[in-house]
This record gives sequence, C-alpha cells and structure tokens, in this order.
Amino acid sequence: MTSNVFETDTPDPIAYLDRLAATDLGRSYKKRMLDELDVRPGHTVVDLGCGPGTDLGTLAEAVGPTGTVIGVDHDRAAVDAATGRTGGLAVDVRLGDLHDLPMADRTADRARTDRVLQHVDDPARALGEIRRVLRPGGRLVMGEPDWGTLTVDHPDSRLTDAYTRFVTDRAVANARIGSQLPRLAAGAGFTVPAVLPITPVFRDVRAADTILGLERTTRRAVTAGYLTEDAAQEWLAHLANGPFLASVTFYLVVAEA
Ligand SMILES: C[S@@+](CC[C@H](N)C(=O)[O-])C[C@H]1O[C@@H](n2cnc3c(N)ncnc32)[C@H](O)[C@@H]1O
Repeated sequence: MTSNVFETDTPDPIAYLDRLAATDLGRSYKKRMLDELDVRPGHTVVDLGCGPGTDLGTLAEAVGPTGTVIGVDHDRAAVDAATGRTGGLAVDVRLGDLHDLPMADRTADRARTDRVLQHVDDPARALGEIRRVLRPGGRLVMGEPDWGTLTVDHPDSRLTDAYTRFVTDRAVANARIGSQLPRLAAGAGFTVPAVLPITPVFRDVRAADTILGLERTTRRAVTAGYLTEDAAQEWLAHLANGPFLASVTFYLVVAEA
C-alpha cells in the first residue's frame, strides 16, 4: 500500500519552499549559509532567486538600519509574495533574471544563491553577472545540491539506477551543479576559499517525500521511459513499506570577488 505514504498532488511552489525552510534541515543549512556570508551592519546584500522572500527578513536584520537588502527573482508570483512578506522592512524586491541582473557594477558586498543555479539556463553566465555586481572583496555563498549523489536504497539496485538517472538526465536542468560550482566560480574570476558538503540521510520515507516528491518523480520517470509501470510499482512498494534510506549531498560554496 503506497497511497497514504506519498504526496501525489504537486504542491503549490511557494508552499513547497515554505515547508522546506521550516524543517530542521532547512533551518540548519540556511543558518550555515548566513554564517558563511559574514554579513556586517551597513552591507548591501543581494539574495538572487529569492523566491517568496524566505531569507530576506533575516538578511535585513543582519545588515541593520544602515544596510540594504535586495531580492531578485524572475517569477512574478515569487516577487509579489516576497514584496508582501517584507513590507515595513528596508528590502527592495526586483523582478529580474540572473543572466542579466538589474543592478549596477560593484554595488553589492554580499550575494547568495539558494537552490537557484541548479535551474538557470547558463550557470557560467549567471556567475559572471554576480561577479560584476559584487564589490572587490565581496563574498558570494551558494547552496546547491549535486543530484548525482542521490541514492535511494532498494533491493534491486537497477531500479535505483533508473530513478536517479532520470533525476540527473531530465528532472533538474543543472543536476550536478553542486560539485561543479568551485570550477564555475573560478572560471568567473572568483577565488573559492571554502566548499562545505552537507549530506542529510533520510530514514523516514514521509520526511524524504516532502522534499523529493518520490511518487510524482517516479510517475515522470515512467512517462519518460526510464522505468516500466511494473518496475515503478515494485520500486514504490518497497520505499513505502521497507526500511527506508535516501541521501543527497548539498554543497555550500563560498566564493570571493
Ligand atoms: C528552489 S527556489 C528557491 C527560492 C529561495 N532561494 C529559497 O531558498 O526559498 C528557486 C528560485 O529561483 C528562481 N529562479 C530560477 N531561475 C532564475 C533566473 N534565471 N533568474 C532569476 N530567478 C530565477 C525561481 O523563480 C525560484 O523562485
């Protein structure tokens, strides 16, 4: 029986982001990103791909009344949500694209991307843009997964291979970005003083499912021809009932302009 284990409907994108940010994992990696960002009072900080403004309030607190926080996202619904959530704070939310940032050269002290570069069309160009808007000595902290490290235990490892191959080939645009970031950042002219891997291990299928969307992703893998319907049933039945284990490495990469 799998139907009461997996979330079958695709969640609203903003609700999905809020839910992840509220988990222990979400809170702890975001805190680690903030520590690495080393924001000082008076800084100008930009959150690139800010989504519904998840991190903008914390950044506004860190820069204080003399600082500036800018959020940029290309999605109108995200910008509207972020604007609504940061009313009353000194936060400027802009509709814009990472490939062509709506910011002048050398105007930011700090920048962050949090699960954004995995989705952009051209990560190297986006990093070039971030380098352009940072002041010399400015710092960028990126938090991105490497989906090539995803593993989901199953007695038939061929099913795991088919599922993870679908994720890296088709489900995410830049699936291996996490481990590529140091090279891409160096190519954009950054130095990279720190690379910090975070590898959560999920032992609870429901907790994993709220982040990974296991059933929905399996359905897409069937449609794309990576798994047969029978294989998908076998795969999901074990995930729902068996001892469960999944993990994926998330990289925090610190880069300096
Ligand atoms: C997974 S969400 C993360 C949102 C937020 N950083 C957080 O941690 O909750 C990715 C966000 O990046 C934005 N995004 C993706 N590609 C973008 C691009 N090329 N330019 C600007 N924003 C982009 C999406 O609209 C989305 O809001």
